[in-house]
Amino acid sequence: MTAAVCSAVESARREEYPPTGELEPSPPSLVGVVQDLSLARDMPAIMEIVRKAARELTGADGATFVLRDGDLCYYAEENAIEPLWKGRRFPMSACISGWAMLHGEAVTIEDIYDDPRIPVDAYRPTFVKSLCMVPIRTKAPIGAIGNYWACRHRATPRELSLLQALADSTSVAMENVAVYAELEKRVRDRTRELEERSRELAAEHAALLEAQRQKEALSALVVHDLKSPAAAIALAASVQLRSADLKPADRRRWGIVFSSAERIIRTAASVLDIAQSQDGRLVPQYADIELCGLLAEIREVVLPLAEKREQTIELSCNVPAGALRADRDLLGRTLQNLVDNALRYSPAQSTVRLEARADAAWVTIAVCDEGPGVPVEMRERIFDQYVRLEENARSGWGLGLSFCKMAVEAHGGASWIEDNTPRGSRFCFKLPVAPGKSVLQGVLLT
Ligand SMILES: Nc1ncnc2c1ncn2[C@@H]1O[C@H](COP(=O)(O)OP(=O)(O)OP(=O)(O)O)[C@@H](O)[C@H]1O
Ligand SMILES: [Mg+2]
Repeated sequence: MTAAVCSAVESARREEYPPTGELEPSPPSLVGVVQDLSLARDMPAIMEIVRKAARELTGADGATFVLRDGDLCYYAEENAIEPLWKGRRFPMSACISGWAMLHGEAVTIEDIYDDPRIPVDAYRPTFVKSLCMVPIRTKAPIGAIGNYWACRHRATPRELSLLQALADSTSVAMENVAVYAELEKRVRDRTRELEERSRELAAEHAALLEAQRQKEALSALVVHDLKSPAAAIALAASVQLRSADLKPADRRRWGIVFSSAERIIRTAASVLDIAQSQDGRLVPQYADIELCGLLAEIREVVLPLAEKREQTIELSCNVPAGALRADRDLLGRTLQNLVDNALRYSPAQSTVRLEARADAAWVTIAVCDEGPGVPVEMRERIFDQYVRLEENARSGWGLGLSFCKMAVEAHGGASWIEDNTPRGSRFCFKLPVAPGKSVLQGVLLT
């Protein structure tokens, strides 16, 4: 550019950007740039903002955005009236951006051909006559921003302070991007870990399900195969018990054989029924039940166990025939389980009482004992599988009550535990009165 053109350009620039008395940066544009930088989430976004702002803030003829790349200066972006060095790398020691970074301070050069720090060969093909360069971060700089003029120009304090403010904001934005990228990486790594773990868990879960299925199939088989020999033992024992000339000691022994075989049969049936109920396959086979007769039968079955410990079983039944329709087998085993518990968990010589009554809607049965009772906080949990009370668990499996609850619920009924007076517990359950029937003071109404 000729001297005359340059002086015209310079005076026009002075009108547009008055040089004196304006150390404060132009607020709207710098504030806007700082805001844009604060929202930038990656380096390309930062470079685009700095590329434009570096030139527009000062009104220079060109601007470059230089990044430190090891021992090199990488001219990453530029915005100038003619091409400069975009995409090129120069040794730190052989360019002015390197000098600004190595010294951590701004440089102003009015005449580039009169400064030994300038590699003139790189500048000769360009329009540049004057420049200023500020480091991004004064401590351990990570880059630099340059301004260039085609006509001889000494960067004003205002121009320098604008450029430095831009460099400072750029440094913060670059640190933000690094933190953001690190966070994103951590989130990605963690997500990958969690996905991996959840795949492992799914595989473990599938393996466990399969193992459980095989275990259940096997135990169902074993349990099923136990039933037949136990039934044969119970039958043989019951035949012995029926013989009139049995000595009392032998009667006791056969009684124990009978009740033990009965217990094996009952537990086996409970296991199979619980498995069926979990699959939703336990459907009661309804029939008319003569409840008072059924209670007397149950009493006969458990009598050997009661006699062994000199316990008494009392009956109190006020349910008319025809009041109840239920599955005889399920109901019988429910009662047997409850009476068996009542006898086993109560002291010798105590009394177990079976009560049954009915009202308009429900037939309610209670098995009352004089045992230790069940703490209030355990009265629901005790119906779960394998739950037993430490202090009075003897040799059971913890399955009997689960079976009872499930069998009662299959009939649309409910089970619960109450205190017995003066001591012990009342294991109660209720079943709906037969459809279309109702009971009033022990009398069946149809
Ligand atoms: N009448 C009772 N009085 C006090 N505790 C009881 C009574 N009935 C049951 N329990 C407690 O509840 C637990 C669970 O009873 P449940 O009948 O389910 O199992 P179990 O008797 O241990 O074994 P099984 O499966 O052979 O019946 C018992 O282990 C016992 O601790
Ligand atoms: Mg039991």
